[in-house]
Amino acid sequence: MSEQSPAPAQSVFREGLLRGQVALVTGGGSGIGLGISELLATLGAHVVIASRKPEHIEAAVAAIRAAGGSASAESLDVRDPERVAAVVQKIAGEHGRIDLLVNNAAGNFYAPSESLSPNAWRSVIEIDLYGTFFCSQAVLPVMKAQGGGRIVSISMTLHYRGWPLMAHATAAKAGIDALTRTLALEWAPYGIRMNAIAPGPIPTEGVRKAFTPPPSASGQVPDVFAIEKAMESYARKAIPAGRWGTPRDIANMVAFLASPAGEWITGAIMVVDGGEWLAKNPSPQMQRP
Ligand code: HXC
Ligand code: NAP
Repeated sequence: MSEQSPAPAQSVFREGLLRGQVALVTGGGSGIGLGISELLATLGAHVVIASRKPEHIEAAVAAIRAAGGSASAESLDVRDPERVAAVVQKIAGEHGRIDLLVNNAAGNFYAPSESLSPNAWRSVIEIDLYGTFFCSQAVLPVMKAQGGGRIVSISMTLHYRGWPLMAHATAAKAGIDALTRTLALEWAPYGIRMNAIAPGPIPTEGVRKAFTPPPSASGQVPDVFAIEKAMESYARKAIPAGRWGTPRDIANMVAFLASPAGEWITGAIMVVDGGEWLAKNPSPQMQRP
């Protein structure tokens, strides 16, 4: 199983669809965020990729430029509102506008809630929920001044039915859904469209980590082949569309929402999951041996 994504050139959207637009993608240097950054650049947008690790953001910018796109990198921890504001001001100063913000950055890991430390809880809530709010609030004056803009936050579906060992992430993403609906109403008069996308399982490194069981008390190393097998079997049984998602599946929805076709869509949470959550299979953690 691989992180398959069609080559950026094979887009279903027309060439130059987002030409002249400026997009900020948090966590845009890996996984789903990278797929989003690549597609937006392919469609003509200048993409600012912002996250903590230079190896993520610099490699992504180099790849986009090598493919003929326009991108730049900003070092950013979305938990730091002052740095968020500084990055947003820098982008607005350099490019004169920000048309699209994609709140994609997140932190997540499987952990029993009964032993979750205050800092572990805080880390995930602050990256996912606070980060989404800080970035959205920071781009507001820029979007207001230019007469509108689009904000797309990446949520999930696991909180629709509860997901053991993910109290922190499900709480944070439920908060993102609430924020999406509330800010959609508050900011509609400024021409801002605020939506979220709830992806189904997409085998990024982040998800591989999530499927990796916590280390056993005896320190036993997880069996990588068993994890791969479990993931394949999960996809076959639990995803009605019959396959894992790809970063491009999510990127296509972002591009749609950023395009003129998204003009009358706000406060929506678009589920892009091959029907996975509707099928209501229990989480792998609920299955008894
Ligand atoms: C229990 C853990 C833990 C774990 C970290 N912590 N990992 N607790 N189990 N597996 C605790 C630490 O002990 C610490 O608490 C606190 O969390 C903060 O850890 P740090 O490593 O200091 O934090 P930081 O460097 O800020 O890193 C944040 C992070 C990390 C969230 C912990 O995992 C990260 O950077 N993740 C980014 C990438 C990622 O997670 N991607 C996944 C997205 S996938 P103490 O008390 O010891 O100080 C996704 C898909 C879900 O969301 C869908 C699945 C189907
Ligand atoms: P990923 O590759 O681990 O992406 C997470 C990104 O967030 C990384 O690029 C990381 O970059 C960035 N990030 C983490 N903490 C940050 C911080 N404090 N400040 C700035 N950036 C930070 O995982 P992914 O699977 O692509 O996840 C992307 C999004 O999709 C997340 O919102 C996730 O919850 C959501 N999602 C994924 C799935 C799935 O199956 N993959 C399903 C549902 C929802 P740095 O490490 O460089 O900071």
